[in-house]
Amino acid sequence: MTELEDQVNNLEVKDDDDVIDPWTVVGKSATGIDYDKVIKKFGSQKIDSELIARFEEVTGKKAHHYLKRGIFFSHRDLHNILNLYESGKKFYLYTGRGPSSETMHIGHLVPFLFTKWLQDVFDVPLIIQLTDDEKVLWRDLKVEDARQMAFNNAKDIIAMGFDPANTFMFNDLDFIGKCPEFYQNMLRVQKCVTFNQVKGIFGFGDSDIIGKITFPSIEATPAFSTSFPFIFDGKIVPCLVPCAIDQDPYFRMTRDVAARLKLPKPALVHASFLPALQGAQHKMSASDPNASIFLSDTPKQIKSKINKYAFSGGRATVEEHREKGGDADVDISFKYLTFFLEDCDRLAEIRAAYESGQLLTGELKQIAIETITPIIRDYQARRSKVTDEILQQFFALRKLNF
Ligand code: TRP
Repeated sequence: MTELEDQVNNLEVKDDDDVIDPWTVVGKSATGIDYDKVIKKFGSQKIDSELIARFEEVTGKKAHHYLKRGIFFSHRDLHNILNLYESGKKFYLYTGRGPSSETMHIGHLVPFLFTKWLQDVFDVPLIIQLTDDEKVLWRDLKVEDARQMAFNNAKDIIAMGFDPANTFMFNDLDFIGKCPEFYQNMLRVQKCVTFNQVKGIFGFGDSDIIGKITFPSIEATPAFSTSFPFIFDGKIVPCLVPCAIDQDPYFRMTRDVAARLKLPKPALVHASFLPALQGAQHKMSASDPNASIFLSDTPKQIKSKINKYAFSGGRATVEEHREKGGDADVDISFKYLTFFLEDCDRLAEIRAAYESGQLLTGELKQIAIETITPIIRDYQARRSKVTDEILQQFFALRKLNF
């Protein structure tokens, strides 16, 4: 059975399951989404200690704390990528973002920071797709406005520290018409997938607009190197896609199509979600300002949001907390530290102190505030320096260091 058929057969969702698809992410438990269950359901592989050890051995670099802490928790064919790297062969990275008018929040940093780290470790080209067309199809949004949002978002992404010498960024609305090879691959993908199959994978129905039905081919196409002749010169080069787990359906489809087109299946690494301030059942979402810490927030806003809204695993009274200790696994300030505090020893100390009752909720929140505030401050300093000229460098059709 192909992966695609497998996915179609896996469709029924039981009521007690967490819901994860490109449009919805809801967990059922206070500790958040059960990611082991997601791996089972999606049929991907866990990033386990053995794979992390191999990663360190092959690259000669210490694994990123996102790997060690299970934040990037799942993969498809990451071993293949390590094999390639080991034998001195090239691959490239591909990721993307659906632009939105809302300001980006700290959850958006996660896949991009990791992608940047991968690019630094492997020294490979990176392609970033901005799916402004996707937002036209799914939201009440004019084509002109979606384009503008893509350029604004591109600057937000550039500020995360990408290197223009080895990063190509494009928005679909401007790029696809300029690159016949991209459109030709889109068409090859479209020819491999039936309406029935996308219905199965994405839940499309008879009354969905036809743009949505073809859109998956647009997200799939950058995973094939021949879509970018100005970078790869027509060569077939394998691809690794870092993405949040909700994007996996697109790439299950892409991998199935790749096999049929006799092209390499893209490998994947999957991120979990940064939880909302109110609790781990929901991911951080830009549409709820009180649930999110934005990349544009002031230190004062960060402090007041964490103090006011960050769900606490602490006890009702100080006495009870001292006696029984807090629950780090449901505590949002602690969860944020697992994402943003790099020092593993310090993180372990904080957990132990919290669980023993020595560290109080207010003190834990203070640590979270002190950890997140400088990250956002540094980000804002970089963002203020991203000019239109810099943007043009990333968007120019050109060779990369390949
Ligand atoms: N659909 C994604 C979103 O809405 C954007 C995207 C396009 C993407 N291509 C990708 C994300 C590749 C990860 C990897 O955000």
